[in-house]
Amino acid sequence: TRHPLQPPYPHPYRFLLNEPHKCRDRTPFLVLLVVTEPGDTVGRNVIRQTWGNESSVPGVSILRLFLVGVHPVFGPALRSVLEEESLLHHDIIQQDFFDTYNNLTLKTLMGMEWVSKHCPNASYVMKADRDVFLNLGYLVRRFLTKPKKNFMTGYVYRNTGPLRSKAYKWYVPREIYPNNTYPPYCGGPGYVLSADLAPKIYGVAQILPVINMEDSFVGICLHALGVGVTGSPWGVFNMYRIEYEKCRFSRLVMVHHFQPQELLKIWPHFQEAKVMCHR
Ligand SMILES: *[C@@H]1O[C@H](CO)[C@@H](O)[C@H](O)[C@H]1NC(C)=O
Ligand SMILES: *[C@@H]1O[C@H](CO)[C@@H](O)[C@H](O)[C@H]1NC(C)=O
Ligand SMILES: *[C@@H]1O[C@H](CO)[C@@H](O)[C@H](O)[C@H]1NC(C)=O
Ligand SMILES: *[C@@H]1O[C@H](CO)[C@@H](O)[C@H](O)[C@H]1NC(C)=O
Repeated sequence: TRHPLQPPYPHPYRFLLNEPHKCRDRTPFLVLLVVTEPGDTVGRNVIRQTWGNESSVPGVSILRLFLVGVHPVFGPALRSVLEEESLLHHDIIQQDFFDTYNNLTLKTLMGMEWVSKHCPNASYVMKADRDVFLNLGYLVRRFLTKPKKNFMTGYVYRNTGPLRSKAYKWYVPREIYPNNTYPPYCGGPGYVLSADLAPKIYGVAQILPVINMEDSFVGICLHALGVGVTGSPWGVFNMYRIEYEKCRFSRLVMVHHFQPQELLKIWPHFQEAKVMCHR
């Protein structure tokens, strides 16, 4: 029997919203998968105008998709709103699982499934949460210069283990994951992988017990595949908030804990970094 916090998987989840032809006429360099909640139209609009802008890195083809599930209460009410937003922007994919914290792994797997089936020739995939600051230009210039296989990077956690207290949002019961440690993995707010890993992760997830922490689960998939993660230099992927500073932010990839309103405020100023900051 399944523990209530364990996401039901595999299960033939259906795409309620899909963009199957996005890679028919172009091969993106980077597929950016952004986790948002179904009702978060405001957050998505801010991301479209800031770090999620597909033309923000000159000469680099970026494809942005928002990953959503079904709101557990307002699912039916949000349906037409989401459909309208989807028609306007063509950047939302949705499957028919409940959009809850403990189901986040299903969103990541939906993203891996989409890349495997609809965009297998992309070079890289980045998964990001909505509450981050991202500098894709620096990521591409500094870390994605050569074609890579079996490559994943981000803020790497090593020798950590599941939290066994129910008091935590990150509680993982033994019934879901018995080991005391996780294999090395990249922190969920923002990580990058070579796109060849997407079908491998999606494939191995069909046979592994899925756990409710999406980032640790991707680490478990890589462990099963015999693939290691690559650490990043200190300060490039930041799991804690750091205050905005133009030139410092021009030399990092990700900062966790940025809300949409702040992003809107700093983004125009950050654009000046391209000419103002030494690299
Ligand atoms: C995205 O960036 C381009 C180039 O800087 C700009 O022209 C465009 O208006 C931006 N799009 C949005 C939605 O902000
Ligand atoms: C995850 O989604 C499935 C399918 O919609 C649902 O049955 C399950 O209750 C959800 N799990 C959690 C922990 O919300
Ligand atoms: C991916 O590349 C292969 C080999 O070049 C090609 O046959 C295939 O049509 C491409 N697929 C897509 C979806 O672009
Ligand atoms: C869990 O522990 C077992 C026994 O030590 C080990 O064989 C297995 O590789 C571990 N799994 C992970 C995902 O680390």
